[in-house]
Amino acid sequence: MDSIVVTGNGPLSGQIPIAGAKNACLTLMPATLLSDEPLTLTNAPRLSDIKTMTELLSSLGCEVSSLQDGQVLVMSSHDLDNHVADYDIVRKMRASNLVLGPMLARLGHAVVSLPGGCAIGARPMDLHIQGLEALGAEIELRDGYLHANAPNGLKGAKVSFGFASVGATENVLMAATLARGTTVLENAAREPEIVDLATCLRRMGAQIEGDGTGTITIQGVDRLGGATHPVVTDRIELGTYMLAPAICGGEVECLGGRIDLVGAFCEKLDEAGISVSETDKGLKVARKNGRIRSVNVTTEPFPGFPTDLQAQMMALMCTAEGISVLEEKIFENRFMHAPELTRMGAQIDVHGGTATVTGVERLKGAPVMATDLRASVSLLLAGLAAEGETVVSRVYHLDRGYEQVVRKFEGMGAKIERVSNR
Ligand code: UD1
Repeated sequence: MDSIVVTGNGPLSGQIPIAGAKNACLTLMPATLLSDEPLTLTNAPRLSDIKTMTELLSSLGCEVSSLQDGQVLVMSSHDLDNHVADYDIVRKMRASNLVLGPMLARLGHAVVSLPGGCAIGARPMDLHIQGLEALGAEIELRDGYLHANAPNGLKGAKVSFGFASVGATENVLMAATLARGTTVLENAAREPEIVDLATCLRRMGAQIEGDGTGTITIQGVDRLGGATHPVVTDRIELGTYMLAPAICGGEVECLGGRIDLVGAFCEKLDEAGISVSETDKGLKVARKNGRIRSVNVTTEPFPGFPTDLQAQMMALMCTAEGISVLEEKIFENRFMHAPELTRMGAQIDVHGGTATVTGVERLKGAPVMATDLRASVSLLLAGLAAEGETVVSRVYHLDRGYEQVVRKFEGMGAKIERVSNR
């Protein structure tokens, strides 16, 4: 199994291209199931999660071609010959559940395995189910699979989400595009990935208004056509690389970066003493003089501070001056990086959903491992700032969400290497 070895060696500089968003691509790909005409996605990220979604769509009878080294995906769901999303694929990746809404809307039935437990919390699907049931679906749980049927087709309805779940909003939004009549989603998620999905669905002929706000209105249509759509920039990859010069010092330009994707995050960087400026090509990040100041962070649905940047922000806070409090409000059990950072000399106390970090002057390299994607990259960031060598194992998590991570950090001057069997 591969590891990544990183050695702290001072300030970073350079330009880093930011890829298309993993989480947008994982919901745009199942949108192909809504139409019998091809959907082409450009600016797709090259990640193992995208391969898993390709495998799942192919198992349903969808033809997926990966062009230009994986940056262009051409999908055709002309002949869907299977409506069962198998446990063996779904268990690898929770986003597999995003085939449920589109399959149900297109075929009138779908069988999708429940994703099962996840390292960062229970992550149930009750909100997805309630939303689809409001549109007239009948859903039963049998043998670990959700069996969904819409014998009379789906019918528009008002759906009020108890929590602004990203996945539930995406699943019900996709299903509603082909439902009869009008659907109103209240307390819908407002993430940029939802806006990207709605934009793509409109290109396919859907009638959607209000995406990016808490209320989305969908006027169902009889059929959707083909489209070509560029995947939005990955705001989590963007935020992660913005933290590299923040932690190590130096100045880095993140190509394709946009403030509107990372507004709440940039406010925290500013408070901490890091400057962010817009350029023609993206965002330039530089560490101002002196030590980083501690800041308090609470994760929230968009436009709040993203849970997917909490681990990386904690890595920054480990060497900040003073005490910072990080509150995790989206997922229970999302502080698994804390004990690993502690092995590098960080001072962190975790109580329930709150982590209190007392900044130390310098972290020290250590062998560490992570149990999820964002935790893994936070350990890489910490290693870049630490004295000596840090060996991060279980790097397959990183392959799920960060394309060419070693090459991108190397491009900024970091001392980093991927090794086998260490
Ligand atoms: C998506 C992102 C993930 C991100 C998360 C929150 C993708 C592929 N993944 O995950 O990277 O961390 O948004 O920004 O886009 N919940 C329920 N019932 C449900 C659905 C969710 O209780 O039916 C709970 C979850 O357990 C969790 C919270 O709601 O505590 C947020 O989940 P949700 O917004 O649905 O996240 P995902 O779509 O799974």
